[in-house]
Amino acid sequence: MYHTGIESPERVWWRPVRGGEKVWVAIAFAWCMILFAMMPLWHLRGGQNPSGIRHRVDPLAYATRVREFIAQYQVGEEANLPVVEPPPGSDVYLQGSMWRWIPVLRLQAGAEYVLHLSSTDVNHGFSLYPLNVNFQVVPGYDYGLRVRPTEPGEFHIVCNEFCGIGHHMMVGKVVVLPPAGLAAAEQPR
Ligand code: CUA
Repeated sequence: MYHTGIESPERVWWRPVRGGEKVWVAIAFAWCMILFAMMPLWHLRGGQNPSGIRHRVDPLAYATRVREFIAQYQVGEEANLPVVEPPPGSDVYLQGSMWRWIPVLRLQAGAEYVLHLSSTDVNHGFSLYPLNVNFQVVPGYDYGLRVRPTEPGEFHIVCNEFCGIGHHMMVGKVVVLPPAGLAAAEQPR
């Protein structure tokens, strides 16, 4: 037995829903409400949102600021990139441009910094490997993140926003040094 669109179906569809079905509707509705409430709740309580400081910046002015920052705290050079070691608590400037991240940063574990991200040309993606950290790096905007590196080691900045022919080679570096007290004991310099 089949129905065509012309014949009307058996008249059962207008009967009130049965108990079991009502329970499922109620469960689905309650779950919807829980998920709906989680959106604002997780925004406030999830601890996953960056404490971003955002403002507009002229790309040229940002590049100038990065150059000043490098001149102030440069400690060396690595693969033609300046290496800087800013003091704990300072503002750190990182610039993404086709196709490099400058400068290489040396930060201290346990210290707090404000990490500024911006681009001087097109959109880039700041992805800190192997951690799960991702940010858009947009020209014209200075995006400041309050960061406190916890684990000493070498981290690579991978560009995760396609930005042209050299995109895959756009790799930068952040070195996290052991906390100040340990550093003196472990690495005599
Ligand atoms: Cu920068 Cu892809």
